[in-house]
Order: sequence, then structure tokens, then C-alpha cells
Amino acid sequence: MEKAEDGSQGFLPPFEHFATQAIHVGQEPEQWTSMAVVPPISLSTTFKQQAPGQHCGFEYSRSGNPTRNCLEKAVAALDGAKYCLAYASGLAATVNIAHLLKVGDTVICMDDVYGGTNRYFRKVASKMGLKITFVDCSKLECLESAITPDTKLVWLETPTNPTLKIIDIQGCADVIHKHKDIILVVDNTFMSAYFQRPLSLGADICMYSATKYMNGHSDVVMGLVSVNGDDLYERLKFLQNALGAVPSPFDCYLCNRGLKTLQIRMKQHFHNALAVAQYLESNPRVEKVIYPGLPSHPQHKLMKRQSTGCPGMVTFYIKGNLEHAEIFLKNLKGHYDSCFSS
Ligand SMILES: Cc1ncc(COP(=O)(O)O)c(C=O)c1O
Repeated sequence: MEKAEDGSQGFLPPFEHFATQAIHVGQEPEQWTSMAVVPPISLSTTFKQQAPGQHCGFEYSRSGNPTRNCLEKAVAALDGAKYCLAYASGLAATVNIAHLLKVGDTVICMDDVYGGTNRYFRKVASKMGLKITFVDCSKLECLESAITPDTKLVWLETPTNPTLKIIDIQGCADVIHKHKDIILVVDNTFMSAYFQRPLSLGADICMYSATKYMNGHSDVVMGLVSVNGDDLYERLKFLQNALGAVPSPFDCYLCNRGLKTLQIRMKQHFHNALAVAQYLESNPRVEKVIYPGLPSHPQHKLMKRQSTGCPGMVTFYIKGNLEHAEIFLKNLKGHYDSCFSS
């Protein structure tokens, strides 16, 4: 096991064999007649059958594709999961998960989630017959009292976007699993598999916008979902094919490639973000810094208890008003536009 770095003593130790698994799981050369050590990009939409219904694992690329299969196996290993499924975007993964539900079911959603998740639940899923309740799940008593017999899914994101609240995943799982048939989903996008394993903390589903850290190179839009339950996997696998929002083989190849550097990228994000947060905290023009890696974060201890480190997202308030914040942003060098879009 590696030693904690970045002055980050007190976090969980890194997950064992992470980098080796990222490089090798699902990539066995023996699966290809060419013995390629890098999974080929398998563009074929259709696969030959020996006889009607007799195929060698793949029939049609929406239902299964060799390049996607390699990626799904690698991500499952990194999440400590039995299964993983890949989707055309993070939101496509969210929609697939929501399709596990039926008209009249209630979703409890953390009150501070990614705007697109909020928009989907409020403006789309609610029109299709789901009831959505937004709750501050960082307070376990609020979660507990929001549960009704109709509650069938709880959606968490930790840290939340943008206020970086930390949710006690194990605590929520203990509350939820007192009730039968409630699925606990954790959007692990901000942590990546390197820093947090929601399934080992009691979640039923771990999902990602792989568009962010998991791919890591700003050149793929993709979603990922990891699960351990055989039944849940079968239901999601059915929906992946039935809804059809699958990623292209090329995107799967790129994301698989990105995973191989996930460990070193995340370590560097932590190192850089901590330095930025510490600098901002000491700057007299800054009102407040929110970074779970700082001892000043109200849930710093919880963060250390459930993760192996902190990602690169830092929130801070500059002194002044909205006008001052806008002047600050306009004077930043580089690209900040994407913070305000999509
Ligand atoms: C935390 C989080 N979840 C989900 C999504 C949606 O993912 P995608 O943009 O890949 O559809 C995003 C996108 O920014 C995100 O930040």
C-alpha cells in the first residue's frame, strides 16, 4: 500500500493495485487473434453468428461491443465492482438509471447536485410520472424523514457541485437500507474511482460523467455505471440496449486510454488544488474557501474517512459583490466559459 501524499495524512490508504488494474484489466492480449496489447477499436456494427442465435459474445454493437467491453471491465475493477456499463454521456447514464423506476415512484435527490441532473429530474423525469423531492442528505435526519413508501431511489453527489458539501455515504446507506427496495445512487464524477468507492460504502450504483476525470482529456463525452448486484446489472444491461444511448467504440478506446493515467492525474489534481486552496485561504481579498482537503472544511474529517484524497474542485468567495466576481472572472486567463454552460 502506498503512503499518503500531499500532506494529506488521515485519508484512507490508496486502493490496492489501482494503477496495475487500470492498465491491464480487460486488456488481455489473448482475447484478440493478433495478441494486441492495446484493445483494437472494433467498428463493426454486426458480428458473425455460427448458426442462428449462436454467437461468440457479440451480435450487434448497441447490445455489446468488444472495445466497450474492455472499458467496462477496467472500470468495474477500478470501482471494486462486479459490473460496469458505459453510456453516451453522464446524463444518458442518469436517464438509464431513472428508467429502473415506474410511474408514481419517488426520487429523493440531494438538494445541491449538478445542474443537468437537477434539470433532468425537475423538467423531464417529473413529466414522465416520477415524483422528485430535493433534500439536504448531508443531514441524515432530513434524509430519514423524507423517505415515504413511494421512495424508490436516492440520488447523491459528494462532493456536491458547486458548494462541495460532503455526504456520509455509509450513513445514508444505513438509513436507506432499513427500507426495502430503495436504490442508492452516488454520482462519483468529482472523485473518480481513484479517490472514492461508493459501492464499498454501501451504495448500490456508482455513476460517472466520464467526460470529466475518468477520461480526463476533454475529448470524450461519456457516462459510466458500476454495480455489484446481479439483478440490478441485468436490469441496467437490458435498459442500455433498449434505450440505446451507447458510446462509440472510438470514445471507449479513448476513455480506456485515459484511465491508464487516472492515478497520476488525480494525485496531481490533489496536490495542485490543495496548494491553490491554501493560497486562497491566506489571501486577504478572499472571503471564504471551500475545499474538503482543508482542515477548515466543516466535513474534512468525514472526507478523510470515506476517501483516499480530494479532487481538483475548489470553491471560493471573493470579497465584494457579484460585480467584483464578474470582474475577477473576466480577468482570468484561459477558458472559463464552460463553467457557465450546458
Ligand atoms: C457531477 C456531474 N454529473 C453528471 C454530469 C453530466 O455528465 P455529461 O455532461 O457527461 O452528460 C456532469 C456534467 O458536468 C457532472 O458534473
